Amino acid sequence: MAQLWGGRFTKETDKTVYEFNASIGFDRRLFHEDIEGSKAHVAMLAKQGILTGQERDSILEGLSGICEDVDEDRLKIDETCEDIHSFMEAELIRRIGDAGKKMHTGRSRNDQVALDMRLYTRRHVVRTDRLLKELLTVILAVMEENLGTYMPGFTHLQKAQPTTLAHHYGAYFEMFRRDRQRMADIYRRMNYCPLGAGALAGTTYPLDREYTASLMGFAGPTQNSMDSVSDRDYLIEFLSALSTVMMHMSRFCEEIILWNSNEYQFVEIDDAYSTGSSIMPQKKNPDVAELIRGKTGRVYGALISLLTTMKGIPLAYNKDMQEDKELTFDAIDTVENCLTLFAGMLHTMRFRKERMAASAMRGFTNATDAADYLVGKGVPFRDAHGIIGRLVLYCVEKETSIDMLSLKELKGISDKFETDIYDAISLETCVEKRLTIGGPAQAAMRAVMEDYREYLKAESPADEGIGLSE
Ligand code: ARG
Repeated sequence: MAQLWGGRFTKETDKTVYEFNASIGFDRRLFHEDIEGSKAHVAMLAKQGILTGQERDSILEGLSGICEDVDEDRLKIDETCEDIHSFMEAELIRRIGDAGKKMHTGRSRNDQVALDMRLYTRRHVVRTDRLLKELLTVILAVMEENLGTYMPGFTHLQKAQPTTLAHHYGAYFEMFRRDRQRMADIYRRMNYCPLGAGALAGTTYPLDREYTASLMGFAGPTQNSMDSVSDRDYLIEFLSALSTVMMHMSRFCEEIILWNSNEYQFVEIDDAYSTGSSIMPQKKNPDVAELIRGKTGRVYGALISLLTTMKGIPLAYNKDMQEDKELTFDAIDTVENCLTLFAGMLHTMRFRKERMAASAMRGFTNATDAADYLVGKGVPFRDAHGIIGRLVLYCVEKETSIDMLSLKELKGISDKFETDIYDAISLETCVEKRLTIGGPAQAAMRAVMEDYREYLKAESPADEGIGLSE
């Protein structure tokens, strides 16, 4: 077992302790980041005259060799090493000898791991942003085709007022757009390089931290070495934003599960995204949507777990922080997977538009408009509300709807009703008159969608003005 310490010890570590302490089983994921960080560090050490040009070249070459060999499966990461950093150093020394022993000059594993994790997270902030953008593209495409697809809008899961499928999807466009803004925000705040903080108190070597930071595309070095090695805020922010992404997907999934049910039959999930039952031959289950809804809990779990881990840790580095990795990796995998599958499911889902429109016609979704009609005829709104309430009750008893009543029946309740009532409460009028910004009328939606199209054309969140480059 390769470990980087032992000088002050008189006894070997107990095997169970060694295994309990080791992190290579999961931090091997940071392999590429560890190499990237070491290369930048070594380049800086040579620039500062701490290493010779020859030593630098030999280390850089050694690191590139290790990278290629692992990538092409010629070299296995040795899982008996304590962590990825120990493996890298041991392998480098094995390859290039004494020069390899100088790589860790002016560095601690504390700032090294802080850097590796930041590089890894930064990459996945960008990836999440891209996946969100792809999802938004799918959502907008559905919206483009469904400006005039009427459906009921709900409150309390009771039919409330009619709207359109484009309008309903537009709500999710807004949510996932905010999620992207959160990614850009996190990126900007976390994009500072902790390398050079040493174990906690910096180092006596004349490091050029600005230079190291710039080599890795950071906006600059972090400003306090103790904070640098013990800050995991950016992970908490990322896990929080990922939890919100999952919450949004989970709500959407819940609706799709309802819409796909026998009772609603608003949509049909594509066969490729459905599963069957081992016993009930008629079944086509929305398992993908249910799994995404289910996995949301696990991403929340990662957030709560890390918050709890961090809450009692004194400055600066403590080994508790090693617990940040497995759960963050799991959350990242989960969200990226779910985003990909979810976009695929949305893209292939079919809508049963006639059923959606028929459903919007039932359930008195035009009751508000009927009241507004009376207001237009000079009836105060509160009185109109009462009149339509009585009208609804009458319809419920007769098992019919407002638009099915004869003018005579309508006049029986209020003499303000005229023949123009039918047009005033038609599905189309109910939707198309809702023209205020953010409303479902086609004219209102068109303006908003023009903005969405422009937004998706921009490479990175234009309003943030930052480049989410990898
Ligand atoms: N495996 C450790 C972690 O993930 C790396 C840092 C170890 N530093 C230390 N002083 N033991 O946090």
